[in-house]
Amino acid sequence: MSFPAATEGLEIRDLAGGYGARPVVTGVTISSIPGVTALIGSNGAGKTTTLRLISGTLRPDEGQVVYRGQTLVGLRPDEIVRLGLVLVPEGGGLFGSMSVKENLLMGAYLPKARAQRKETLGKVLDLFPRLAERHDVVARRLSGGEQQMLAIGRGLMACPRLLILDEPSLGLAPAIIQLVAEAIRAIASAGVPILLCEQNAAMALYLASQVFVMEQGRIVLHGTADELRQRPEIVQAYLGS
Ligand SMILES: Nc1ncnc2c1ncn2[C@@H]1O[C@H](COP(=O)(O)OP(=O)(O)O)[C@@H](O)[C@H]1O
Ligand SMILES: [Mg+2]
Repeated sequence: MSFPAATEGLEIRDLAGGYGARPVVTGVTISSIPGVTALIGSNGAGKTTTLRLISGTLRPDEGQVVYRGQTLVGLRPDEIVRLGLVLVPEGGGLFGSMSVKENLLMGAYLPKARAQRKETLGKVLDLFPRLAERHDVVARRLSGGEQQMLAIGRGLMACPRLLILDEPSLGLAPAIIQLVAEAIRAIASAGVPILLCEQNAAMALYLASQVFVMEQGRIVLHGTADELRQRPEIVQAYLGS
């Protein structure tokens, strides 16, 4: 199945790969569209592995990853970031002993992002006022929600053309998940397409325009979020663990 804007986004075709002889993910086909594209799956389904295959930290055994017409397979992770694909890893990947502001500035390490880092920093602090209040606090002293906001903020500092989020709700209380969700919605509304990987189907269905459900390394369900919001029991059936 294809989408009108697919060639402008990320196209993953028949992707297979993993950590040894036996692939963890197989036959994965996903196209991103403007707004939020969700990849939902329970713990161990293969979401993070898929993101490693996209972002260049794992080499696919089979398949294609194409972004804006350019194939990503064989590129280094930093070359992929340079093309505008920015991954916020599971758990945030923050530098615990560095301050909020230092972590944010680390996100703008590539020359293009560095050139406009003051302006981007202003936008990130507008989006997350809590980070402005805590700008000189070291990251490990932040709450879980603040750390996730910082991780997303650091991703934004790289000036992504596509922002990839790996389980931003992980370990957060419902009220905090709601705050993070609203921030993700604001980022998408500002024109940054998002690929959101989540176990939290309610959050993903709330934010996404289209949804892919992964089970045991395969895409088992694909539809618009409107379709799947009307049949949440189907999504839940794949997530029941
Ligand atoms: N570094 C690794 N080496 C070997 N197997 C791994 C590694 N990371 C994950 N796996 C396995 O790959 C499968 C998918 O994991 P993962 O992609 O992390 O799923 P998810 O992100 O959906 O929770 C799991 O069975 C997991 O045990
Ligand atoms: Mg994961």
